Amino acid sequence: MSNPRAVVLRSYDAPFQIEEIELGPLRSNEIRVRVVAAGLCHTDLLPRQKVVADHMLPLILGHEGAGVVEEVGSDVSSIAIGDHVLMSFDSCGDCLLCLEGKPAYCSQFRTLNLSARRGDGTTSALDREGRVVNNRWFAQSSLATHAIATERNSVVIDKSLPLDVLAPLGCGLQTGAGAVLNEMEVRPGQSIVVFGVGAVGLAAIMAAKIAGATDIVAVDLHQSRLDLAQELGATRVLRGDQEDLRQALPDGGPGLDFMLDTTALPEIIRSGISSLRAGGRAVLVGAGTRELSIHPSELTGVNIGYVLEGSASPQRFLPILIEHWRAGRFQIEKLTRSYALAEINDAEADMNAGRTIKPILIPPSN
Ligand SMILES: NC(=O)c1ccc[n+]([C@@H]2O[C@H](COP(=O)([O-])OP(=O)(O)OC[C@H]3O[C@@H](n4cnc5c(N)ncnc54)[C@H](O)[C@@H]3O)[C@@H](O)[C@H]2O)c1
Ligand SMILES: [Zn+2]
Ligand SMILES: [Zn+2]
Repeated sequence: MSNPRAVVLRSYDAPFQIEEIELGPLRSNEIRVRVVAAGLCHTDLLPRQKVVADHMLPLILGHEGAGVVEEVGSDVSSIAIGDHVLMSFDSCGDCLLCLEGKPAYCSQFRTLNLSARRGDGTTSALDREGRVVNNRWFAQSSLATHAIATERNSVVIDKSLPLDVLAPLGCGLQTGAGAVLNEMEVRPGQSIVVFGVGAVGLAAIMAAKIAGATDIVAVDLHQSRLDLAQELGATRVLRGDQEDLRQALPDGGPGLDFMLDTTALPEIIRSGISSLRAGGRAVLVGAGTRELSIHPSELTGVNIGYVLEGSASPQRFLPILIEHWRAGRFQIEKLTRSYALAEINDAEADMNAGRTIKPILIPPSN
């Protein structure tokens, strides 16, 4: 059997390269997965910023992996060799928020998912020269032929389900759908505006339709994305750069019940907040670097917060999304395009240019 291969980022501004790596040994709570598919999420491009990259390169990215379990650690009881799993974000299982069933707000979230190392600072991949490569990105680093995940961040799914379709549930789609279904708990007849209809926003649009919202507004700069949003459930579409955006959003009504921002752009977030009715809810998920400056009075009666991973518990929420997909209500295939793992740089360029909404990377099968 040949050595595993992985997509490695060695410099924040260099292309990704495919390298042979050595993985392992497993900790008692870990599993080894043969990756069948992995989605590319915008958060994978955070280490393209020098300040982020400085702390974690060289690094194997990927946090929407799906595959087949090859080996399990000695304490793993809910996952067996041969199981099919979707990999998601990790959590400690012991802190207050984990115990309350809210692992997205685990006190260890940043360390376990965004440090690219384990909680104790270790990693489990070496390059061909025997040097450390950080491979604990979201406790999976699944842009690879093989990955090490944990029992807590892996969700076992039925073997008949298509791993290459369902892979992106692990982060982007869970984030958009969860913001609507778990965090806002949108009810029939309510209204929502979604700013930015990429992978996260389109998942939110589909979820809003599932929830029975009747005024579902999609805002983006790409006409093709607005057309797709309409096909997937948006009842109105607006351009993010149109001059009268603030007036157009409430459409003469008393204001919207909810807004979801995926753009992380302060001026867009402020437009969204201004479109809410008193008591409306603003949910922010975009990962940006700019600060939001707002006069407190603009927040009168507004509920606002930044939401991680759709406030989901993956073991509970991913099976719900799979049922919606099975019933044709959550059309993942409309968002995705497949690439061979070796085409990772094309996938990144297409995603950045808006040509592909959700790239799915497929490693070679041996
Ligand atoms: N909070 C979380 O847990 C979490 C999880 C996953 C992703 N994210 C973040 O969510 C964001 C969205 O991810 P994505 O994969 O959907 O990205 P994406 O780039 O596919 O979607 C963003 C969309 O915003 C649109 N946009 C840009 N400027 C706009 C403007 N002025 N007006 C209207 N629309 C505009 C773009 O055209 C694009 O379609 C990213 O920042 C990502 O890092 C957060
Ligand atoms: Zn925790
Ligand atoms: Zn992500």
